[in-house]
Amino acid sequence: MDRLNGPARLMIVSDLDQTMVDHNDRENVSLLRFNALWEAEYRQDSLLVFSSGRSFASYEQLCAKKPMLTPDITVMSVGTEIAYGESMVPDNEWKQSLDKNWNRDIVVEETSKFPELTPQWEQSQRPHKVSFFLEKDKALKVINALTERLEVRGLDAKTIYSGGEALDVLPKGAGKGQALSYLLKKFEVNGNRPNNTLVCGDSGNDAELFSVPEVYGVMVSNAMEELLQWREENAKNNPKILLATERGAAGIIQAIGNFGLGSSISPRDRVDLSEFGSKTLCPDHEIVMFYLFYERWRRAEVENTEQSLHKLRSICHSMAIFVHPSGVKRPLQHSIDEMVKIHGDKKGKRFSVWVDQVYSSEIALNTWLVKFYKWELCGEEKEKYCCLTTVLLSSKTEESDGLMWLHLHQTWLEGQGTEESSTWLL
Ligand code: GLC
Ligand code: MG
Repeated sequence: MDRLNGPARLMIVSDLDQTMVDHNDRENVSLLRFNALWEAEYRQDSLLVFSSGRSFASYEQLCAKKPMLTPDITVMSVGTEIAYGESMVPDNEWKQSLDKNWNRDIVVEETSKFPELTPQWEQSQRPHKVSFFLEKDKALKVINALTERLEVRGLDAKTIYSGGEALDVLPKGAGKGQALSYLLKKFEVNGNRPNNTLVCGDSGNDAELFSVPEVYGVMVSNAMEELLQWREENAKNNPKILLATERGAAGIIQAIGNFGLGSSISPRDRVDLSEFGSKTLCPDHEIVMFYLFYERWRRAEVENTEQSLHKLRSICHSMAIFVHPSGVKRPLQHSIDEMVKIHGDKKGKRFSVWVDQVYSSEIALNTWLVKFYKWELCGEEKEKYCCLTTVLLSSKTEESDGLMWLHLHQTWLEGQGTEESSTWLL
């Protein structure tokens, strides 16, 4: 939470399944578009929050197969668990606050009296979340009767129905909306409430997010019936809530543009990728554009022309060194030559490249140190590989007036090396 020195320019609070991650989008087109936009334009001064019904364990399973960015804050298990940063430090204060008038045993006891409720698997059951499957046509009746029973037993509990199939029983003070209000209050106390907040969702457990005061909201075009109904009853004419015409993460990008919250043009939507190395770009943008070019080069989606080759070679300072994950170093120019040779080696294959947590700092006049994780997703098996990368960039050198690469250093994350780790690719 303290990563930024002042208020975030934009805080995006997004649900995962069918919002940030559209499971119908097998090539992850929208998610990768969002990722590139976030890293190029927002990472440095904005906050990304994932708010999901999943438990941490099930979130990790999603991360293992999808190109997920690392959020600043993770709100899991329908707003009952909050964690901060890459190392996911849990917010125990939040957890404790949910204990008030909550008794999990009583919830289990009362819910067991309803044969219509089928418990979800063990991984979904959490200290402040008891979850079931419940058929749509029986939902209203069961929810009303159960709410009454829990009241009689003196519990401050609430039920949330999502996706036309899942029923969660939570403490009254929990839920995605309450968790967001708690976070906003924390920011407020520290004098750094985000300038703008955009909440994004598709199903019943996201409804609460849209009632948090002063936030913008987007319901993606593939939103579920229960959320659309909620909108009909509560927010039909609210100009701060958009029903997108785009699915998933593309709907989020659409909302950023619609509400004028900042740039909504993803680097992936640019046709002319050879913009990297140009004078006007910032270092974060440079890195995103370069690795996009790298992906498209290997997929033969950019042509192997004299112009592209010239561009590739011109960003590399003649003295630049590449320290390979193996610890061996050699001129960066040699790796560029290697890259030239493998044009199209991933043509027609599943191959995506994205960068995560791109942080740059100007360490001397016109010289930046940029640190980021470079990821590759390969093949039908969706194997993911990651390399922690540091690049030294400088502008206004003798050779060029754009940004030049002076030094590149990569380290494989534990267990993340590829079969290509013996080669000299960037
Ligand atoms: C996620 C969770 C599940 C929950 C549902 C709705 O799918 O895994 O436990 O019931 O979201 O909130
Ligand atoms: Mg969802």
